[in-house]
Amino acid sequence: MSERRSIDVVSDGHVISRIIGEGSLSALPEILEGYDEVFVVYDENVAGLIPEIPACKGMVAIEATEEGKVMATVELICRSMMDADLSRKALVLSIGGGITTDMAGFAASIYKRGVRYANVPTTLLAMVDAAIGGKTGVNFDGFKNMLGVIRQPEFTFISAEPLRTLSTRDFFSGAAELLKTFIIDNSFGNYEKAVSLLGSCGKNLAPEALQDLIFSAAQVKASIVGRDQFESGERKKLNLGHTFAHAIEHEARLRGDDITHGEAVAMGIIKAAILSEKVFGIIGLAEAFKAEFSLCGLPVECPYPMDVLKAAMAKDKKSEGDRIHFVLIRSVGEVETVPLRIDEI
Ligand code: GLY
Repeated sequence: MSERRSIDVVSDGHVISRIIGEGSLSALPEILEGYDEVFVVYDENVAGLIPEIPACKGMVAIEATEEGKVMATVELICRSMMDADLSRKALVLSIGGGITTDMAGFAASIYKRGVRYANVPTTLLAMVDAAIGGKTGVNFDGFKNMLGVIRQPEFTFISAEPLRTLSTRDFFSGAAELLKTFIIDNSFGNYEKAVSLLGSCGKNLAPEALQDLIFSAAQVKASIVGRDQFESGERKKLNLGHTFAHAIEHEARLRGDDITHGEAVAMGIIKAAILSEKVFGIIGLAEAFKAEFSLCGLPVECPYPMDVLKAAMAKDKKSEGDRIHFVLIRSVGEVETVPLRIDEI
């Protein structure tokens, strides 16, 4: 992906956002030409990656942790924007993983009743999921993403270059969202391509080798968001594995266990596959995913019993009445949403 590629996210005939892909972050200043005021919110770990930002009115570094993904950090960002005397015509540019892009997008959405924002994701997970589609927000009372809004970024700039700075664990845990996207839409055989690339190269994988697949996953997400921006139908499919994953992460926090979001998503997809086998009367799905995910360096066995997960799932913000919309899998590339009661699981 050395050349610049750009796609519009189109909803109801209107361009609501853009995805721009290019090999190097050094293209960023050119992309920012035409913006008169830019305010940068960045993960303190990626400070060394930030190129010179034109028309930069100020910057704030944040500690991007799940514990820190709270209103107090959003207030800190807003206060820094006020200190920089940021006007309503400003662009807030977030540079970091999903925690950073979620919080910066939320702060931008409420500052002076809303200023524009754009995302520069630096993790695989954010490049293919969190930084696209306009979901912003924070955790609240121990529940993930309980407060927030859906509001689209001006653009999401995707360059695989920052992936070089990730730990092996963070890099591979992001692979779970990449695989999830292609389980939902495998139009071009990208699921098999991703498993083969991640599996064969293992820890020696050069991130740049994934650029085309990352852009393809971003395109899949962009087209789903374009068709269903506010998650009334098809967009729910992007939550594949996430109902279980959020319960796993909730339990891990209570116990002080170290499980990343991507790892929880991998385990959550396996749980969804087991549930799919029961609901659709099919076999072999979960075993196949276990083998493929393991090849890609992802954990597949959930350490917590189902009754513990059920208690957390009952409080999932996606529940409606006594039912939760589970995304179930018929085969790779064919998923559907099925409302189920917790006691049916
Ligand atoms: N992460 C799922 C979505 O953006 O809809």
